[in-house]
Amino acid sequence: MTVIRDINFGLEEGGTLALVGSNGAGKTTLLMSLAGHIIPKSGQVRLNGVDLVDKGPETRCGLGVGLVPEGRRVFPDLSVFENLVVGGYSRPSNNQSGSMARVFEVFPRLFDRKNQVAGSLSGGEQQMLAFGRAIMSNPNLLLVDELSLGLMPSVVDECYKALEKLVKKGIAVILVDQNSDAATNFCSSTLILETGDQVWLGESSALSEESTH
Ligand SMILES: Nc1ncnc2c1ncn2[C@@H]1O[C@H](COP(=O)(O)OP(=O)(O)OP(=O)(O)O)[C@@H](O)[C@H]1O
Ligand SMILES: [Mg+2]
Repeated sequence: MTVIRDINFGLEEGGTLALVGSNGAGKTTLLMSLAGHIIPKSGQVRLNGVDLVDKGPETRCGLGVGLVPEGRRVFPDLSVFENLVVGGYSRPSNNQSGSMARVFEVFPRLFDRKNQVAGSLSGGEQQMLAFGRAIMSNPNLLLVDELSLGLMPSVVDECYKALEKLVKKGIAVILVDQNSDAATNFCSSTLILETGDQVWLGESSALSEESTH
């Protein structure tokens, strides 16, 4: 079954792309194809000139693709610290303590909770931990699925502020958020999917101009 087709875009270092589309449009499928959890029938996925298409998720993670999946998927029985350590394994030659310092700099709340088991964290803290785990692999590209799902507005703000810090450090982001305005406001470009087709790609600012005319 073909879920997405004819999708074509590029992203610079520190670039930000909002992926927008209604339920079932194929947003998660596209992110999963980039992360290596779904293998496309045809096409190319390249990162820094390296072809990723025949590489599995762990290899891609090692090459710099970080994923913050929908529903967080942290290890509930492991502590915050242990979850982060696991996140760092996938990138060889990674400076674990440096990466962990960066996680705690971006999410100070995780430092306060570092010995707590992840299953006992609030939804917002689990989302922060899911970000933290992805940051541990020192990604060049961060894929974020449904950033704000089920979170209080204040926590959503905190996550967006953290994401901004990461982008300033040169990490590229592809972002899906059910609040598509939040995603397009944050990201300089936007790709709109409609039942698996790329129907619009451009600067997010052009999108808001279009909708006001
Ligand atoms: N494992 C699967 N097997 C078959 N069809 C699937 C599978 N996963 C997703 N699909 C279908 O692929 C299409 C795209 O789904 P996808 O989850 O990528 O959409 P989405 O844009 O992320 O939607 P949502 O906003 O609900 O998260 C849907 O029609 C969905 O039913
Ligand atoms: Mg989805």
